[in-house]
Parts: sequence; structure tokens; C-alpha cells
Amino acid sequence: MGTRSLSICVFGIFVADLCFFANDIPIPGQTILGKKYIIGPGGKGSNQAIAAARAGGNVSFISKVGKDSYADLAISLYKRDKINYDGLVISENESTGAAGILINEKTGQNAINVVPGAAGTIDENLIDSKLNIIESSNVFLTQLETPKEVTLYALKKAKNFNCTTILNPAPASEITNDNFQYFDFFTPNETEASFYYGQSIKNEEDCKKAGSFFLDKGIKNIIITLGENGCYFKNNKEEFIVPASNLKKPVVDTTGAGDAFNGALSVAISQNKNYKEAIEFANLVAGVSVTREGAANSMPYKEELLYK
Ligand code: ATP
Ligand code: RIB
Repeated sequence: MGTRSLSICVFGIFVADLCFFANDIPIPGQTILGKKYIIGPGGKGSNQAIAAARAGGNVSFISKVGKDSYADLAISLYKRDKINYDGLVISENESTGAAGILINEKTGQNAINVVPGAAGTIDENLIDSKLNIIESSNVFLTQLETPKEVTLYALKKAKNFNCTTILNPAPASEITNDNFQYFDFFTPNETEASFYYGQSIKNEEDCKKAGSFFLDKGIKNIIITLGENGCYFKNNKEEFIVPASNLKKPVVDTTGAGDAFNGALSVAISQNKNYKEAIEFANLVAGVSVTREGAANSMPYKEELLYK
């Protein structure tokens, strides 16, 4: 057994986000004139790792990138935010991925097409070669942008090492019933929760019914993030809604809000906060992130939260 420190292992992808801001998000067939564009760090896993490190976590990141300028951007961020990237494989013959993100600057809402690039060919061998990182962590956080079978394999390994596991099931993709027992926390947004529940979730009553459905599947704790309405939580002891933070600044870009939430949640859990406090902390960090542009670049440092 490796030494157990209070640390977080994030498995996921890094990509460069190409973000286009305009008055609207174009519909199929439409061309619109945008206002500006930004190229910045993205990828749910990498965003969550950065959110966690800035929120005070001791973070390691497992992924794969190409040998290119996008990867250089990732590595300089990990150095700056003191993220252990021993788990980052650099592929000589594949490119780092990218995401096209269309943002409505009036509402902060977005539409995303993400191409994982090198991270899309991650296999079980890569996980096996990084098991020491998972074993020495107490929280394991992942999403569904990496190949699904490999992600589920990594989650099982993490559970066997007694990590607290968090699956942010984004983008939503079918998961067979035998896997739900490995998820300590399952954190879909409303749309993803509706996908797994098989019915639309529109209000608190729907959340409660869906919450019971997820617990019956074997998940220990279900959190449904509800955007501007905060989030819903249920386990076999308690059930509550945390309203969204009262923001002092306007919402400018919600890209990465879920990532801010999951990264901060992993920190609070690694610090053994009670679940109510942990979710309130995640909700606060995510709220701050939507008042800033970009994905990883919108993640607040813990010192900045004191003034929110
Ligand atoms: P994204 O895909 O845009 O990264 P998401 O759809 O995964 O985000 P959401 O449910 O939209 O996740 O938001 C995650 C969390 O961010 C919410 O639970 C809430 O804490 C916070 N949040 C999102 N939108 C707002 C808002 N308008 N005001 C305050 N907090 C917000
Ligand atoms: O959650 C937001 C992220 O999803 C973006 O940074 C984009 O890269 C996609 O992975």
C-alpha cells in the first residue's frame, strides 16, 4: 500500500477551448457575427483539477496530451497551480484535443463540441501504469470525456484502493447497472440526470423522485446541479437543496461551472467536511466561476472566496 495522504486524483482530458462570444448561439445553418474569441485551457478533467488545486486541494492529474503548444499551455498551468502531473502522458504521434465553444454573452449559456485528441486513445494500460497515483489518493474524481470503459475500469480500481469516488457523468452516456455500486458521488447536471433517469427533471418533486431512483441503483450520494437554481442532494440519511450563491457580479460565461463545482466538492470531501458544508462550498466556488470568462481560467483561488 502507498502512503495515504489527503489528496485528490483527477482523471480526465485536457483540451484547448476555442471560445466564441456573440449575442446569440447560432442555430444549424445560421451564420452570425461574433464579438470576440479567446483560446484558453479546457477539458472537464483538467478544469476540475485546476478548480480543486485553487480551492486548496492537493491534486494529481492523469491524462494524455500531444507534444504541441496546447500541451505546453496545460503544463505551464499545472506548474503554476502546483498540480502533480506525473500522471500526464505525452504522445509523440497524437495531437492535443480542442473544443469549439459558442457563448451567448447575454445569458452566459453555451454549446460545446469537444474533440479529446490524444486523450481519446487512453487505455487500461495507461491506468495500470499510474495506479500508484490513484492508490496514494483519498478522493478519485472523473468524468465521461475519456473512453468510457477505461473510465469505469479506473473507478473500480479507485474503489478497490478505498478512495471516495466521484463521477461527474458528463457528457451523458449509457452506464450499465453493475457499475453504479462504484460511485460514492454521482454529480449530473439536470440534463444528464434526466438522461439517466429516463424522464425530464424540471422541479424539486422531480429531483426527489430521481434522487430515490439513483440511490436504488447503488449510488451512495446523488447531487444534481441545477444551474442558476443551485443543486439538489440526497443520500440514505439526508436530502436538501442548496440555492445558488447570491452573486455580486453578473453571469458572463457558465462554461466550466460544473467543473468548478466538482473540483471544489472533491477538496471539501478530502478535508472531511460534512456533506452539507462540502456542497455549500462547491456551490460557492461554482457561483464565482460563472462571473468570469473561460473554463479553467474562471476557477477562483481560495483566498478570493473570502470576499464573495
Ligand atoms: P457547464 O456544463 O456549463 O460547465 P453544468 O451544466 O455542468 O455546467 P450547472 O448545473 O449549470 O452545471 O452549474 C453547476 C453549478 O454552478 C450550479 O450547481 C451552481 O452552483 C453554479 N451555477 C451555475 N449557474 C449559475 C448561476 N447563474 N448563478 C449562480 N450559480 C450558478
Ligand atoms: O465543462 C466545460 C468543458 O467541457 C470545456 O472546457 C470544454 O473543453 C469541454 O470539455
